[in-house]
Amino acid sequence: MNDTAFFLGKGGVGKTTLSGAFALSLARAGKKVLIASLDPAHNLGDILDLKLTGQPTAVEPRLDALEVDLAYWVNRYLEESRSQMKANYAYNTTFNLDSFFNIIKYSPGTEEYAVLWAIEDIHCTLGPLYDIVVFDTPPTALSLRFLSLPVISGLWVKELRQLREKILSKRQSVARINPDSPIAASCVDKNEDKVYGQLKIIGQRLGALEHLFSKESFICVIVNPDQLSVDEALRIQEELTRLGIPLGAICINKRGISDMAWEQHPSLATYPQYDFNFTREGISSREALVDVGAQPLATYFLNRKTNA
Ligand SMILES: Nc1ncnc2c1ncn2[C@@H]1O[C@H](COP(=O)(O)OP(=O)(O)O)[C@@H](O)[C@H]1O
Ligand SMILES: [Mg+2]
Repeated sequence: MNDTAFFLGKGGVGKTTLSGAFALSLARAGKKVLIASLDPAHNLGDILDLKLTGQPTAVEPRLDALEVDLAYWVNRYLEESRSQMKANYAYNTTFNLDSFFNIIKYSPGTEEYAVLWAIEDIHCTLGPLYDIVVFDTPPTALSLRFLSLPVISGLWVKELRQLREKILSKRQSVARINPDSPIAASCVDKNEDKVYGQLKIIGQRLGALEHLFSKESFICVIVNPDQLSVDEALRIQEELTRLGIPLGAICINKRGISDMAWEQHPSLATYPQYDFNFTREGISSREALVDVGAQPLATYFLNRKTNA
């Protein structure tokens, strides 16, 4: 099984930079690595100086990169939902599915689901080809929502399954009393019921993603030596704790940006801390990414299971 890492933090703290530097360090240490950007405003390609697509592009030996095409995943998710509804509900012809899905496309939550299914696809389809998959994440609000979706949707799906069980058992009662009722014809056992079967599959997929986030992922939160990025890191830490997702390490980036004295917040100081070099010239090449100094974090990541 491959390993998965996520870099979270306020916009501009260096998520793309550090995830790129980290992936590069791991690849140069001999691991086969995929770096995947989930940020709709892609700039991973700019940092690696490559034109990236939704499929892996070779960056250098052992390192591939891709940028998830969220619009594609939104459409794919809607298309799958549409064909499932058509297959499962005879009455779908009575209301206009197309206009319904055109509205859902812009509804809250759709983008989060699209990100979630993109992560699932990368993890299941591409993951086995690599030792490590590193995700460069979108802005915090979207990241926290996709991380919480498996738990929240899992609860919904559980409720819906119980509801479906009740419907099926009521149908069975009607069929027993009146075998000629039209309900008797539609009466099926839950093991043969398509809707129940779909809910079971969705429940299993969400369970696997919850497991991926809470048990198999290494989550790094990046701060800069400023109050706003620390405040955001504290909110992320609080939310991760609520979700039962462990925080793996705190990355302190851009410390050299000012001479002001700075001390880590006590709540964040309890996690492993990694400092990164700030280069005033900026980062405009892959070699400049190496100078950011991700090796200590990469070494810690590779040894963390033996240390635990
Ligand atoms: N250690 C660093 N040294 C110099 N510049 C950095 C460093 N980390 C990030 N930057 C610069 O800061 C800006 C924001 O970084 P980026 O990785 O795009 O942040 P995010 O992905 O969190 O929005 C970019 O211009 C990047 O080159
Ligand atoms: Mg970024």
